[in-house]
Amino acid sequence: MKKFNVLVVGGGSTWTPGLLKGICARQKTFPINRLVMFDVNENRQKTIGEFAKILFQEEYPEIKFDYTVDKEKAFAEDIDFVFVQMRTGGYTMREKDEKIPLSLGLIGQETCGPGGFAYGMRSISDMVQLVKDVREKNKNAWILNYTNPAAIVADALQRIFPEDNKILNICDQPENLLRSYGRLLDRDPREFDPIYFGLNHFGWFTHLYDQQGNDLLPELREMILEGGFRPVDYEQRDKSWLETYAMVEQMVRDFPDYLPNTYLQYYLYPDKVLNKLNPSYTRANEVMDGREKRVFEECNRIISVGTAKDSHVVHNDAHGEFILIVAESIAFNKGDNFVVILKNDGIIENLPHDAMVEVAASLTANGPRPYAVGTIPTFYKGLIEGQYAYERLTAEAYIEGSYQKALQALTLNRTVVSALKAREILDALIEANKEYWPELK
Ligand code: G6P
Ligand code: MN
Repeated sequence: MKKFNVLVVGGGSTWTPGLLKGICARQKTFPINRLVMFDVNENRQKTIGEFAKILFQEEYPEIKFDYTVDKEKAFAEDIDFVFVQMRTGGYTMREKDEKIPLSLGLIGQETCGPGGFAYGMRSISDMVQLVKDVREKNKNAWILNYTNPAAIVADALQRIFPEDNKILNICDQPENLLRSYGRLLDRDPREFDPIYFGLNHFGWFTHLYDQQGNDLLPELREMILEGGFRPVDYEQRDKSWLETYAMVEQMVRDFPDYLPNTYLQYYLYPDKVLNKLNPSYTRANEVMDGREKRVFEECNRIISVGTAKDSHVVHNDAHGEFILIVAESIAFNKGDNFVVILKNDGIIENLPHDAMVEVAASLTANGPRPYAVGTIPTFYKGLIEGQYAYERLTAEAYIEGSYQKALQALTLNRTVVSALKAREILDALIEANKEYWPELK
């Protein structure tokens, strides 16, 4: 069986230990020859890297493993897959992305609204550089990208590297939803054949077929309306995520056609959600006090005792597993069905051809083969077109260094709406992101 060479960019992420556990769990189905982790933050990379050495010694001794902060060492000719999960500016900047809008009475969220705009303008530079770094020595590696905000990153990369058909932008949220449906229905989510349409963090499931071809969505809708909705791993989730999933019930009540992505709460109920957000303690704080502490303390503990055998903190989660099963489907030409981000090109008939949409596709060695969605109803089309225009203008604001386009983008965002507010928040974000953004003129 062929073994693959993998590079993880953002090796110091809080998500990496989960990914490493997934790599161990899938060694029979996605065998790895060499794994290299790379990060720009030496301390974080070292802690996760030393933890990985212990884990692999115990669970995956054949793997050739190394970690580095040296680009020259990281980017090699013979890499098959690059898994990317970078966060430009770290949690410090995430906190600002969330708190600055909240201080002006606007939704403060990592990927949605003005926070997502700010993060997008930071991510594009590093992602463009990453693609150049990989392609300098390697034209063939698949770049599987988790970097957020995935919608904006995908749009910008499509514009800057239009010929590169081995960049695949992915998000684990549709997968998290499928697993949550699976738990509710008491079914294996891998057996679902879903139809999904929209943009990243802005989409809907229209059907959820089982292996016999029955659509489970109507039953699921009733279950959600009667009993609410929770994430598959609710025992492990923080309060804010439980509240987010709970909002699905409200969305299904108001718009029962389809099952929504949880992120739509910010666009459909900005007023209600704003009331629940605490401007002085946001999700970034929750993560820094929670997952970040837990993961790094646990890795340090494992390093000091020299074994990972008794560790329950680090586990194989959907985030880590999803990128692996995506890679596996491509690597072995399995053609499994996943929800991923692709250039529309007619998949959704009545949306622009060049929009980066999120849809179900069969993933093969020759790339994704999307399932046609057809024509979508006016309400959804209207919502998506507004959001798509916002994302496109954000990418253009970055590429052209245009203040005007940035202002247009924010004005179009449903969490902002007022042009006065858009200017106010844009000016505040420019100030906070000086180190990262291109100059906007
Ligand atoms: C989901 C989304 C990711 C996002 C993450 C944030 O998994 O799909 O795009 O980054 O949630 O989770 P956090 O726990 O950091 O708030
Ligand atoms: Mn996502």
